[in-house]
Amino acid sequence: MSTQTGNDVQFIRICDIKDVSAEKGKSFRIGKLFLAVFHSDGKFFATSDICTHEHELLSEGWLEGTHMEYLPRVDKYPPLPPSGEACGFHAPDDPVGWLVGPTVECPRHGATFDLRTGEAKTLPASEPIEVFAIEIKGSDVMVGIPVQYLDTAGSH
Ligand code: FES
Repeated sequence: MSTQTGNDVQFIRICDIKDVSAEKGKSFRIGKLFLAVFHSDGKFFATSDICTHEHELLSEGWLEGTHMEYLPRVDKYPPLPPSGEACGFHAPDDPVGWLVGPTVECPRHGATFDLRTGEAKTLPASEPIEVFAIEIKGSDVMVGIPVQYLDTAGSH
């Protein structure tokens, strides 16, 4: 997780909460940073907008809210042996599930990233994206921008 706090970060008003539609992302350029703000399941997240695979804009991607996913039951695929024995993977009636999301899916090759931690969850991306602290003050979306992105001295 790449969130920074304290003197290394400057909280900046990025937009109004109405500027980022539900289940969408929006792109912003703040100093040298390509920033994405996402609105998923009523919560806001701020990350780098650049996919770590081949640099696609993640703000153009698809969001998936928090939900459970389950393995298909192994008694349906593949069928259990006639003896009714478990397949060795798990018993037929085991509920095997895990919590997924919130994630963004890159629109180019489909890598997914956890919006809370930046972790790459799906290939072809393996490196995390940077995530930033975010606060909602009234209707203002405030993001903690690391000062190195704001320092334009020496840039062209
Ligand atoms: S550019 Fe994002 S998955 Fe390839």
